[in-house]
Amino acid sequence: MRAMRIALIGFAAGIAVPGFAATSKQAAAANAFETVRKVLQHPRCQNCHIPGDAPLQFDDGRVHGQGVVRGPRGDGPPGLPCSTCHGETNPPASYGANVPPGAHNWALPPPETKMVFIGLSPAALCAVIKDPKQTNGRDLPAMLAHVTDDKLVRWGWDPGVGRAPVSVPHADFVAAFKTWMDAGAPCPTSSPTSP
Ligand code: HEC
Ligand code: HEC
Repeated sequence: MRAMRIALIGFAAGIAVPGFAATSKQAAAANAFETVRKVLQHPRCQNCHIPGDAPLQFDDGRVHGQGVVRGPRGDGPPGLPCSTCHGETNPPASYGANVPPGAHNWALPPPETKMVFIGLSPAALCAVIKDPKQTNGRDLPAMLAHVTDDKLVRWGWDPGVGRAPVSVPHADFVAAFKTWMDAGAPCPTSSPTSP
């Protein structure tokens, strides 16, 4: 009886209690979300998922050179679209480093749905990707399809000479997204002590 009461208290407080299937599923979902977070906040991804209006570059996220800005649709202002410099694919490796990388639809998200990933707590990032108002109307299954197939996302694993690819393998990222989504897409609390 006493042990039972302790277990129930642990459960109510959200503390992992060994032996509860629901709790181990929650733990798996929490781990999976951490993998998703690590990818979304990798420099190859967060350099375009920004609150400001100029894309960022390199692992230290410095502001893009040449005065490049988002523009009304995300693909740059009319006079200097991203496509002036960024093509459909990376230039050949023989061109060396510091050339503009390329992928289909090279652009920032549009100003109405900036989809900010950079600088957010895990809880805030989780809220962004679950909010269709911030993801151009996409729900989680649409997001899963996007991270599985989209050429711009896939570019993060083939970013061209001189740039480190995303550190988590793409297949692990997709699997983690699915595990988290199938478990009901729980969000971490912003701090371990919050209710
Ligand atoms: C060159 C800029 C750029 C880079 C780099 C980039 N994204 Fe995006 N991302 C975008 C744009 C633009 C959209 C909006 C696409 C749309 O609405 O069709 C977007 C949308 C998304 C979405 C939302 C999809 C949806 O269905 O709404 C996810 C998730 C995403 N990106 C993940 C990533 C991941 C993961 C990486 C790194 C591996 C990454 N992005 C790298 C520009 C970028
Ligand atoms: C005048 C040419 C030019 C234009 C226009 C331009 N870029 Fe770039 N961009 C570059 C060059 C060159 C690099 C490579 C810098 C390097 O590696 O030294 C680059 C790199 C990047 C990177 C860096 C990737 C990384 O992870 O380090 C991103 C993101 C990016 N551009 C986004 C954009 C977006 C989005 C637009 C349009 C809104 C745009 N760029 C417009 C020339 C341009």
